[in-house]
Amino acid sequence: MEDRTPRREDLDPIEIASRDEIAALQLERLRWSLRHAYDNVPFYRASFDAAGVHPDELQDLSDLSKFPFTVKQDLRDNYPFGMFAVPRDKVARIHASSGTTGKPTVVGYTARDIDTWATCVARSMRASGTRPGDVVHVAYGYGLFTGGLGAHYGAEKLGCTVVPVSGGMTPRQVQLIEDFGASTIMVTPSYALSILDEYREQGLDPRESPLKVGIFGAEPWTNAMRAEIEQAFDMHAVDIYGLSEVIGPGVANECVETKDGLHIWEDHFYPEVIDVVTGQVLPDGEKGELVFTSLTKEAFPIIRYRTRDLTRLLPGTARSMRRMEKITGRSDDMMILRGVNVFPTQIEEQLMATAGLGPHFQIELTREGRMDVMTVHVEAAQGPMGTDSLEQAAESLKRRIKERVGVSVEIAAHGSGGVPRSQGKAVRIVDKRPKV
Ligand code: DLL
Repeated sequence: MEDRTPRREDLDPIEIASRDEIAALQLERLRWSLRHAYDNVPFYRASFDAAGVHPDELQDLSDLSKFPFTVKQDLRDNYPFGMFAVPRDKVARIHASSGTTGKPTVVGYTARDIDTWATCVARSMRASGTRPGDVVHVAYGYGLFTGGLGAHYGAEKLGCTVVPVSGGMTPRQVQLIEDFGASTIMVTPSYALSILDEYREQGLDPRESPLKVGIFGAEPWTNAMRAEIEQAFDMHAVDIYGLSEVIGPGVANECVETKDGLHIWEDHFYPEVIDVVTGQVLPDGEKGELVFTSLTKEAFPIIRYRTRDLTRLLPGTARSMRRMEKITGRSDDMMILRGVNVFPTQIEEQLMATAGLGPHFQIELTREGRMDVMTVHVEAAQGPMGTDSLEQAAESLKRRIKERVGVSVEIAAHGSGGVPRSQGKAVRIVDKRPKV
């Protein structure tokens, strides 16, 4: 793989500033953000008042723990524009995430927020190894989802040639990557796998593609999946994280030279990790739920937002800013099977280590009597089967999951292409258990 380490002189100075400098900036910005939320959003005024705290009480960064959390339901309760801190006519853009039930979560941006966001995405792309002048193929969905437009503005800001393809029409994705010479692709890791399949389908060698860097996020994916994609395309596969409520993609990103977790752009987003049950702030290094407070956002300040994403904070390496470990899952995605906690990423890890099976999978949950049953749908790898039959491969996956994850599952093995695909975020869990 080509060396894509960015030059140190091209980084934003704050990325490599001292911890003291970063903390001083954070404190100043946090004071502003709390005050801005309190003064302009009735919800925050009421929630701070109810908790008996006032923005003026923030003397130290750790004082943030006195402030109440914000959860997704608060955003729904204030649908559509109740969480905005600026008059509606100062809102330059709206995005929304489609809730599975009920109303979507709506977020807003001023023109300056859009610029902040583009700066964070551009910084993320540079960390990933993308350079000004690169052709960037954006296959994240465009529209209310923050993926497409977030990536787009960041790529423009970095000075790239942007190809705004959005998701879908997989054969055309391959054609455009090849014809336009895209050296960076931004896409969900699961859809990257579909594009990979399409390369082989068309008889093209993905290692000969012009791609050098893939910036993958919007859903959990494992280091095992990284190894598979890097090997298949001969490109760097780097993790990008974000969520609409905090800004969109570009809250944190891995560095191509280390690939050791995602540096959080702490000059704009203040992270905490809390105990899921007690809500207590955990020391760095301990695993829990990630919580974010925006430091600079105008239209939609967010204070102590519970993301439901599970990870831990680690010290900086390639940058001074702290890292978050690759996300293992969301608390919502945790399945409990006969007392054992299981995340889809654990299944993915075992699948990637099993020869003869493709990387696509979906988990189906059903109930037999009083027992929950987990069936993992998998499929044969593309191309001719090795010496093992599909049945043997399925049997070996079942054994691996039992031995390494500690749960007994059923495997439903399909022919190549048999697992449902998605063009954005993969649907990993289909829950068919009766609702109680
Ligand atoms: O998924 C923003 C995004 C777009 C991020 C493109 C990266 C790339 P939402 O639709 O609001 O926003 O979903 C946010 O997706 O809370 C995580 O659960 C999950 N997620 C996002 N990035 C990652 C990642 C976008 N790198 C939710 N690893 C978050 C694991 C991720 N999960």
